Amino acid sequence: MSEINLNVNIGRLTLQNPVMLASGTVGYGNEISEFIDLSKIGAIVTKSISLKPRKGNPPRRVVETASGMLNAIGLANVGIENFIKEKIPFLKELGTTLIANIAASSIDEYVECVKLLDDIETVKGFEINVSCPNVKEGGLIFGNNVDNVKRITEKVRAATEKNVIVKLSPNTANIADFARAVKDNGGDAVSAINTLVGSAFDIYTRKPKIKNITGGLSGPAIKPVAIAKVLEISRNVDIPIIGIGGISNWKDAVEFMIAGASAAQLGTINFVNPTAAIETLDGIKGYCKNMSVKNISEIISSRILR
Ligand SMILES: Cc1cc2nc3c(=O)[nH]c(=O)nc-3n(C[C@H](O)[C@H](O)[C@H](O)COP(=O)(O)O)c2cc1C
Repeated sequence: MSEINLNVNIGRLTLQNPVMLASGTVGYGNEISEFIDLSKIGAIVTKSISLKPRKGNPPRRVVETASGMLNAIGLANVGIENFIKEKIPFLKELGTTLIANIAASSIDEYVECVKLLDDIETVKGFEINVSCPNVKEGGLIFGNNVDNVKRITEKVRAATEKNVIVKLSPNTANIADFARAVKDNGGDAVSAINTLVGSAFDIYTRKPKIKNITGGLSGPAIKPVAIAKVLEISRNVDIPIIGIGGISNWKDAVEFMIAGASAAQLGTINFVNPTAAIETLDGIKGYCKNMSVKNISEIISSRILR
């Protein structure tokens, strides 16, 4: 059988394959590069970067839950300036497509971050995080308003020719309206989903298990919710979708693609199995071979489900 074409289009960007690493789960690439050859995967998304460095929330910031974890990191990051100075030189050598994830607490701040990174050749696109549940300003309250998402997309679009992906929150009843706002205002793609708001208590101390009281739930526990959100978008809006949420192996990735995702981001699994992305890629190749799929795009569809 001839080579399988694994290329996928995410708006104006073509990835060599659909396997991506999710924001916040692999730092700036350095944390995972000793385990896998990052040049083999489709793309890596950085931890959310903000204009100024952020310390994030006080500990305890993560706790394990049934089939998942809760985190309230609060967007701890080095800030744009340090990112450019300290992280870009390493990322430049990786040979993988780099997407910079941006977090901000105002529209102007999103735009300023994008402008500062726009000239950096290594950055191939932006994932705009409008959906972090763990910060007071920006984050969820901001991203759960369709008008804000419209304005952010429009202003960011005007600031760059690079790929603009908006990362959507599942903590809403109408995710397709948000995806439509992204499409109508020039966004190239959406990623779905960010974490679901969750909480956990210690029954003996009667205190919350994480200091922030609520956090973002991720991991296999959220996979069916994420698939339903991807499906809701793909049924209603014609825009490339990057599926995220509990993807731990190739079967999960293929399942998301069948629901309409063009690519799959692996998040929490990286903490459990740092080689999962490469195993996922190999598994997808094997699946295509067994199913006589010559072009991976053939499986990206939910048109039959509409
Ligand atoms: C520890 C941790 C930190 C995260 N940090 C970010 C972040 O900085 N920006 C962002 O957009 N998403 C962040 N996320 C969300 C993930 O990128 C992903 O959307 C979510 O965890 C669901 O995927 P998963 O179930 O595969 O982990 C974080 C998730 C975890 C577990």
